[in-house]
Amino acid sequence: ADIDRFVRDLPKVELHVHLEGSMEPPILLDLAKKHGVDAVPSSLEGVREWYEFRDFPHFIEVYLTSVETLRDEADFAMLTSDVAARLAAQRVSYAELHVSLYAHLMRGVPAHVVFDGIEHARREAEQTHGIQLRWIPDFPGDYGVETGEQTLDAVLKDGPPSVVGFGVGSVEVSRAPFTDLFARARAAGLHSLPHAGENGGPERIVEALDLLHAERIGHGIDSMDDPALVERLRDAGVPLDVCPTSNVCTGAIERIEDHPLPRMLRAGLSVSLNSDDPPMFGTDLGNEYRVAHGLGLDVTELAALARNGVTASYLDEAGKRALL
Ligand code: HPA
Ligand code: ZN
Repeated sequence: ADIDRFVRDLPKVELHVHLEGSMEPPILLDLAKKHGVDAVPSSLEGVREWYEFRDFPHFIEVYLTSVETLRDEADFAMLTSDVAARLAAQRVSYAELHVSLYAHLMRGVPAHVVFDGIEHARREAEQTHGIQLRWIPDFPGDYGVETGEQTLDAVLKDGPPSVVGFGVGSVEVSRAPFTDLFARARAAGLHSLPHAGENGGPERIVEALDLLHAERIGHGIDSMDDPALVERLRDAGVPLDVCPTSNVCTGAIERIEDHPLPRMLRAGLSVSLNSDDPPMFGTDLGNEYRVAHGLGLDVTELAALARNGVTASYLDEAGKRALL
């Protein structure tokens, strides 16, 4: 259909996608076999069932188990190469990927193994596909602030210049304990890019703004429960990374028809469209645009979402101009 072609040909960027959550099931199965990770199902059918999430904590549990299949530099390079090729095939020329760095550190995988693998693939993908990748290392907020400190220490010691920001994800807890941590990240030149208001309520977004000085909000859909916050986000032009299919699959919202994306856009918020953990949610970025169309957005609005992504990205000015 026309919309399919429009979406396919639309130049896109992706600002909210997790590297480890982008593992296609065949790769997951191969890695699980290679390293003997028994907690991962051993068939594609099994993986499909495994990806039916009861609720958000269950999603995080499955996510962290799948992450255990990544062990050596070659694993990280192979995954990154596959993800880059898939993005490039959808006409994505620039992507900022969350890397669950702490989930590797806690298993004894050193940061340099992760960074060496993903950097090798990043450089190669830029040559092969002309796609630019940037990294946002993050940690699970519900594991506590020390976890975040260790993650940031590792980034500052071993992180390459292609790390653009620092994030916090997983089950949403108060962002208040991370105030000093994010101040330290920002002082080191990293952008503050927390998940907030995915399912933790508008207060999490207020904390992210006031305490973490967030420069973009991961998800932020709960902002719609607080009109004063919507006004603040709009007036300050704070970009929000919205991921509609993710929100249904993790139970953040009940039905896709109820997704606030159209209301967010029409309230004047700077919303971009993103896929979060595409194979885990049976989606990809192109599909998110088709879903947005299904929610009633016309092609002008879809194009605006794509432009918002470019504007909210950490592409250099020339790179932005080329896409706007
Ligand atoms: N939210 C929080 N943490 C995550 C997500 C998410 O959507 N995906 C992977 N880790
Ligand atoms: Zn996310």
